[in-house]
Amino acid sequence: MSEAIIKVKNVTTRFGKKVVHDDISLSVKEGEVYGILGGSGSGKTTLMREIIMLQKFKSGQIEVLGQNIRKLSHNEIARLKKNWSVLFQFGALYSSLNVIENVSIPLIEYTNLPKDLIEGIALSKLKMSGLKKEATYLFPSELSGGMKKRASLARALALDPKILFLDEPTSGLDPVGAENFDRLIRELASLLKLTVVIVTHDLHTIEYVLDRFCIIFEKKILFEGTFEEAKKFEHYAIREFLKFKN
Ligand SMILES: Nc1ncnc2c1ncn2[C@@H]1O[C@H](COP(=O)(O)OP(=O)(O)OP(=O)(O)O)[C@@H](O)[C@H]1O
Ligand SMILES: [Mg+2]
Repeated sequence: MSEAIIKVKNVTTRFGKKVVHDDISLSVKEGEVYGILGGSGSGKTTLMREIIMLQKFKSGQIEVLGQNIRKLSHNEIARLKKNWSVLFQFGALYSSLNVIENVSIPLIEYTNLPKDLIEGIALSKLKMSGLKKEATYLFPSELSGGMKKRASLARALALDPKILFLDEPTSGLDPVGAENFDRLIRELASLLKLTVVIVTHDLHTIEYVLDRFCIIFEKKILFEGTFEEAKKFEHYAIREFLKFKN
């Protein structure tokens, strides 16, 4: 855990006249679970979308796996994108497909593996994600919120990504469900040697899952470091945000 796998350097983002990020820099090391924190509307999702090339930024540079994402050809982009998968904030499964069909989609789309092998891989990813066996052939409408998250996670793991991006993965789950999902993310990160980038404001996730995190505040990176380091950081916004008692 040392090399930076993602580097954001002096990035500025604007929507019209509205500045969202003003010259922000951060880096994510290979193998760590990294958090992007900040209040609602602070630009967390936007930053994540910039890193995964779904959103343009005004100036600055982003490198992923040593490649400057703005300088890539069409083919290089396609190749780079195979290294990650994403669980979106309102992560949607295809409602007309059952769970195992949903998990099989990336395998059907991006590999030429035979059907029985795809089914085997999909089943193993579902097991890894802790989804009950009985849910394998259910449709999304028949799943609880926690089960949907696990099914979406299994789909995100289908192609063995190096980097997993999660936008508010525990939102909408009850506290027990959220803690279970946190534990799963932590276990999978170590087991699969994944680099995980999580957009979150869940205090349990922040304290127990993240190795390091940054906090976006007033368009800048106010803090980057570990939870222990944050505890020592004297800034009202951090203390308020992390609910530290003074
Ligand atoms: N495509 C867009 N066009 C115009 N404004 C946008 C666009 N995308 C995001 N914004 C604005 O940028 C700001 C940051 O949005 P973003 O969704 O990144 O915040 P966030 O930190 O993820 O918030 P939340 O915690 O509520 O999910 C908001 O003010 C939003 O309105
Ligand atoms: Mg968001």
